[in-house]
Amino acid sequence: MNNPGVGIAITGSGSATPAQAVANQALSTIVDTSDEWIADRTGIKSRHLASSGESLTELAAAAARSAIAAAGMTPADIDMIILATSTADDLFGSASAIQGRLGASKAVAFDLTAACSGFLFAMVTAAQFIRTGVYQNVVVIGADILSRWVDWSDRTTCVLFGDGAGAVVMQASMEGDRLLSFYLASDGTQNDCLQLPFGFQPHELLPQVSIAQGTYHPITMKGREVYRFAVSKVPEVIEKSLFRANLTTDQIDWLLLHQANQRILDAVADRLHIPSAKVLSNLAHYGNTSAASIPLALDEAVRSGKIQPGHIIAASGFGAGLTWGAAIFQWG
Ligand code: UT7
Repeated sequence: MNNPGVGIAITGSGSATPAQAVANQALSTIVDTSDEWIADRTGIKSRHLASSGESLTELAAAAARSAIAAAGMTPADIDMIILATSTADDLFGSASAIQGRLGASKAVAFDLTAACSGFLFAMVTAAQFIRTGVYQNVVVIGADILSRWVDWSDRTTCVLFGDGAGAVVMQASMEGDRLLSFYLASDGTQNDCLQLPFGFQPHELLPQVSIAQGTYHPITMKGREVYRFAVSKVPEVIEKSLFRANLTTDQIDWLLLHQANQRILDAVADRLHIPSAKVLSNLAHYGNTSAASIPLALDEAVRSGKIQPGHIIAASGFGAGLTWGAAIFQWG
């Protein structure tokens, strides 16, 4: 049920990254790798890693605060906060702690987990609340500290990831709907391609009552499978979204993909015949920041003046689940 006339406007962005930056060269002192291998195969040159003094809540709140200010609002104006993350400080959720830290006293806040697709899924979730007229001002945050869950002795994964947070403000608008279309998908049959699994020991609590106790185990990934999945599914879902928006690829101003690998960005752009000048990329500096990567790249492009009000952006997230999706929206 849509409230006729209520559209979406995306009015502000913000981001935050941890203070420490670690270059490829430094990683070659931990695992058998090289700057050349990492840069050639992924485009990544450096990444920011959260110290023990930095929290997901703090990074996410900083990104949200900056997005709210950019939208010309105050935290008291916010009705809802959705935090997309797979690495909450608290397994019960970190969105409420962010709400408290921001002083967004009237906002309801909750976490949403869809790995690297999380920010996109959260944007679409926020849109449903706005379109039905329930909420007017929503902050959507993508934030992850995957360095907590990387196996730092596994060269096939540890060189890929970085930490960070990004956020946008989505508002109800009576002047048209600037979320032009979206398409979301999941394929749980490929769940084992990318996991951060719970590992446990059975524990005999009582006679004939056994429970499982343990902790989460480091990230495992079938890199080539995930690569193939991304390169085939992302162009498809962008094309479906463009069709729904009644747009063609040449009407896109910016292609904003989850920043996993420069080769994936290039291959997707190539398949869609989108020139590389329209492809936003910052993974050289940040690596794969999971749910944070899309809003982090968006915020940089807005603040550098690349993205201007009215520009049309085709965004696509993909990752564990497997999950993937695209959204076509107009900035401002
Ligand atoms: O957020 C979404 C999640 N993830 C992704 O999107 C990742 C998708 N996959 C990829 O980006 C790529 O598959 C990787 C970057 C992970 C790997 O690149 P690749 O070109 O597919 O390399 P590969 O896995 O085929 O490995 C090639 C070689 C192997 O050696 P052998 O078996 O040929 O002797 C690996 O052991 O490269 C080796 N290798 C490394 N060498 C140096 C793997 N990691 C490294 C490393 N440094 N860090």
